[in-house]
Amino acid sequence: MRKYSIALIPGDGIGVDVIREGRKVLDTICELDGGIKLEYEEFDWSCEYYLKNGRMMPENGLEILKDFNSIYLGAVGYPGVPDHVSLWGLLLPIRRQFQQYINIRPVKLLRGLKSPLANRGADDLDFVVVRENNEGEYSSVGGRMYEGTDQDMAVQSSVFTRQGVEKVLRYAYNIADQQGKRKRLTAATKSNGIIHTMPFWDEYVQKINKEFPDVETNITHIDALCAFFVSKPDVFDVVVASNLFGDIVTDLGAAIIGGMGIAPSANINPEKRFPSMFEPVHGSAPDIAGKGIANPTAAIWCASMMLEHLGETKLAEAILEALQDVLEEGAAVTPDLGGTAKTEEFGDEVCKKLAKYAVAR
Ligand code: NAI
Ligand code: MG
Repeated sequence: MRKYSIALIPGDGIGVDVIREGRKVLDTICELDGGIKLEYEEFDWSCEYYLKNGRMMPENGLEILKDFNSIYLGAVGYPGVPDHVSLWGLLLPIRRQFQQYINIRPVKLLRGLKSPLANRGADDLDFVVVRENNEGEYSSVGGRMYEGTDQDMAVQSSVFTRQGVEKVLRYAYNIADQQGKRKRLTAATKSNGIIHTMPFWDEYVQKINKEFPDVETNITHIDALCAFFVSKPDVFDVVVASNLFGDIVTDLGAAIIGGMGIAPSANINPEKRFPSMFEPVHGSAPDIAGKGIANPTAAIWCASMMLEHLGETKLAEAILEALQDVLEEGAAVTPDLGGTAKTEEFGDEVCKKLAKYAVAR
């Protein structure tokens, strides 16, 4: 029996609903396979937990998580708890302590989905964004002074290190080199306006690019890049970006492949010294929480990415195929995709479709 331990952190709002469906799909594929067992432990760490305990997770939370094979997370954040508390109290410590310095966000139009971009199909929308996940603009260096006076001020510093930048660039170049359809890497920059860190970033792009002679390199300003996501998404293969730029541009990436309910992400520790974490790009969506209508696609796609990372490629592919069958049929999809199904019905339907792929193996 192949065994993997999974830490489940559903979190807040719709995080709970979509992780329930993802787990159902995982359980179904394991049952159909017969040779794999996922051993889950569920943690209620969330904003609700914070309101009771004054922290997002227990003091030894990272110690508890470190020996799991993977972490499967919904979303955290809820009105009443400031967003910087929920983020810096749970997600960021996990990403940093476990050196998940790579964040993979596919921008791929699934079978059965329509892009809001006119006349764009699956051939045009098929790339991946590699976001630097540990440093850059999301640093805790800086401070606040003179609060409450008319000299009130804040300073926030970005941190770009040679090691951090080289690691993310090399990872992205490797994907472009080995899996890229177009063998092209686009590096997001803003070296015209940000005078220290972004020229530094560009310099290392030029350096690492020499290790990959078969990959074509483009360095593109982030503002122009946003426009190109809309006007010519077909030119991209692998986009590599700093923490902030990658965060922003991937919400646009989500929008062009069908919306926030679709986009998955993987926080990877490539050395596998620590668990990697799989979570939808979307948040806890307080506006639809509790209604049972959240789209579980992103969470189910994340489950597939998690199995892929664990080396279960066949099972990962089966999940993605079954998911796309449901999207293509369109009868059991949630309101954000124009359907009337509940989150739970969507998940059930994916489970039903799985049988076909499990037998086909
Ligand atoms: P959000 O992603 O939660 O929602 C943005 C919009 O997309 C909303 O209209 C929502 O209804 C819709 N949406 C999102 N996921 C959906 C799904 N699966 N199905 C259907 N519609 C969906 O982003 P927002 O509103 O900016 O943030 C809400 C809370 O989530 C905040 O507290 C924020 O800090 C937190 N957040 C947490 C993240 C995480 O845990 N990784 C990521 C982003 C936000
Ligand atoms: Mg984001």
